[in-house]
Amino acid sequence: MNGRFPDGFLWGAATSSYQIEGAAAEDGRSESVWDRFCRIPGKVLNGDTGDTACDHYRRWEEDIRLMEELGLSAYRFSVAWPRVLPEGGGPVNQAGLDFYDRLVDGLLEAGIEPFVTLYHWDHPLWIEEAGGWRVRETAYAFAEYASAVEARLGDRVRHWMTLNEPWVTAHLGHRTGQHAPGLVDSGAELDAAHHLLLGHGLASMALRAGRPGREVGIALNLEPRRPRSGHPRDVAAAALEEGLMNGWFLDPLFGRGYPDDLLARTGWPASVVEDGDLAAIAQPLDAVGLNYYRTEVVGDPGLRDEDRPPPLQNDPAEVTEMGWPVTPSGLGEMLRLLRGTGVEAVYITENGAACPDTAWKDGAVDDEDRCSYLERHIIEAGKAIGEGVPLRGYFVWTLLDNFEWSFGYARRFGLVHVDRTTQRRTPKASAYWYRDVIARNGP
Ligand code: FCB
Repeated sequence: MNGRFPDGFLWGAATSSYQIEGAAAEDGRSESVWDRFCRIPGKVLNGDTGDTACDHYRRWEEDIRLMEELGLSAYRFSVAWPRVLPEGGGPVNQAGLDFYDRLVDGLLEAGIEPFVTLYHWDHPLWIEEAGGWRVRETAYAFAEYASAVEARLGDRVRHWMTLNEPWVTAHLGHRTGQHAPGLVDSGAELDAAHHLLLGHGLASMALRAGRPGREVGIALNLEPRRPRSGHPRDVAAAALEEGLMNGWFLDPLFGRGYPDDLLARTGWPASVVEDGDLAAIAQPLDAVGLNYYRTEVVGDPGLRDEDRPPPLQNDPAEVTEMGWPVTPSGLGEMLRLLRGTGVEAVYITENGAACPDTAWKDGAVDDEDRCSYLERHIIEAGKAIGEGVPLRGYFVWTLLDNFEWSFGYARRFGLVHVDRTTQRRTPKASAYWYRDVIARNGP
């Protein structure tokens, strides 16, 4: 496609606090659940931590200059809860909020629209010690935190996202243990998901109570799951996985409650759901952020290929450094799914690829593979706009090579290379490629 995107379409990049800020003990920040998780041997590759990360807490001005060079019209970042409320029951730490205050001013001066995510997985350790997302109190605490951030930034920030990818927090954090807090407890997963959604609803109300005219949304990772074959057991396995990622969150957010078929299949007792919770979760949503990376082929693990009817759905041959299949068509599917919700604005709040980044040319990473990944997804996004999806912006994951959770610094998603010893930033070929896309307002 060489068509232009609509006027006013936002081209951005996304980051998150724990992945880039560093300055883990600065200005009164307390420990987060990720600081603690990184210290458990074997949880993060090479024993990496976010203690220093990209040192963005100190280098934010330089980073805004980089965004300006790329011509970004929007920037999505998250606020670190332990900077704002370092202690349970304690006062709001204005010194921690000062950082975001300066950042927002700097972005606005540079003509870059700030998109604030309140929670990108790094809740304070004191919250976890009080039960974390397994307990309902955390949803209330989250809403109080949302109010504190709104009180400070709400005069300038128009775009708010409550949570980033609640599925990841619930599933990887509570069931598989790959993410903080590292629990392996199938019962805890859906309780945590419910409290996350409740927290979203309560925080949305708090954000709206502040000032009118702002856009409140949530960033979800939605993914299609393809059945390995047409065998009913494969179809059911894929539907279950897909439902737990997508419908489990979309249905209650859009006022339909938890899907009955999934309630039956999971056997979740829903004992944590109290009267009024579903109404609180189903707050009006001004926007949905879609974080999209991949699809996956799913089969019933108990079935052998010889028992499956042909044709078998193969795993896509092209994968990124994460081992994630490159499947741009799934982006279009998820955008159409969101069109069906009737939501007024959709943003692609994350999309990007981890690449080996081993080829260098003229002193910069020559990442044609990343450019190709991004281009194919942007083309798919353009098609979806043509099909009536109210897509208003696209954010590359991510601006800087950063702390990629359990992979530490061993996976690079950035448009800009970061030297881990010197913190020197060097735009990759993809950064210049993206700059040209932005300048043309289209791929
Ligand atoms: C998403 C996360 C983001 C980053 C990318 C690769 O699930 O929101 O922080 O880790 O994956």
